[in-house]
Amino acid sequence: MTPPGLAIDATTRLRPWRVEDAPALYEAVMSGQEHIARWMSWADGTYTIDRARDFLAGCEREYPSGRLDWAIEVEGVPVGSLGVPRSEPAHGEYEIGYWLAEPYTGRGIMTRSAAVVTDWLFDQKSAHRVQIAALSGNTPSRAVAERLGFTLEGVFRQSRFNRGAWHDMAWYAITEDEWAAREPSRA
Ligand SMILES: CC(C)(COP(=O)(O)OP(=O)(O)OC[C@H]1O[C@@H](n2cnc3c(N)ncnc32)[C@H](O)[C@@H]1OP(=O)(O)O)[C@@H](O)C(=O)NCCC(=O)NCCS
Repeated sequence: MTPPGLAIDATTRLRPWRVEDAPALYEAVMSGQEHIARWMSWADGTYTIDRARDFLAGCEREYPSGRLDWAIEVEGVPVGSLGVPRSEPAHGEYEIGYWLAEPYTGRGIMTRSAAVVTDWLFDQKSAHRVQIAALSGNTPSRAVAERLGFTLEGVFRQSRFNRGAWHDMAWYAITEDEWAAREPSRA
């Protein structure tokens, strides 16, 4: 099943990626490549429009078997991505991951988008836990999790190799009951 469209606010929505988004995806990454590559190694200096197309073709191919990756679209233009890189449906466990083109950061777009997807996972996928993992130095990403009321459950030491060095990974999660009880103003 292709992921459903999800409204975020008057100008922003999540919708499935399409192969024809390749130029827009490439543009979104390259509009602040270092901003993304610093934390996500796939966006390094070797990123090309063909790599963008490969990612999009993979999404289209794997949507029928349950892949969850959405384009974040602002005023009709894809400017970021939010997806579920790992899940254990039998245990109700889903992890979300995200990035946003640099010119669109600092407006609350990812906090609102991550809130809507977290809500959707609890409602539509019977999630019991939703997780977010970030390199421990990635303060903006950790701030999204913290703003949404996720709890820092632990730090996996030296668990990711990025740019020639080992990095700690901070793991956050929120449970179904915690999400239901949180203050709505957080999103
Ligand atoms: C991490 C990342 C996705 C955060 O995206 P973002 O849209 O800027 O994050 P938010 O939506 O939470 O924006 C938060 C900022 O917007 C501000 N903001 C403005 N309006 C807001 C609103 N209505 N609601 C919430 N925050 C708002 C907040 O004050 C906050 O600023 P601060 O961090 O300076 O205090 C983005 O920085 C990114 O793509 N980084 C590179 C890739 C990456 O690291 N991905 C994560 C890998 S784990």
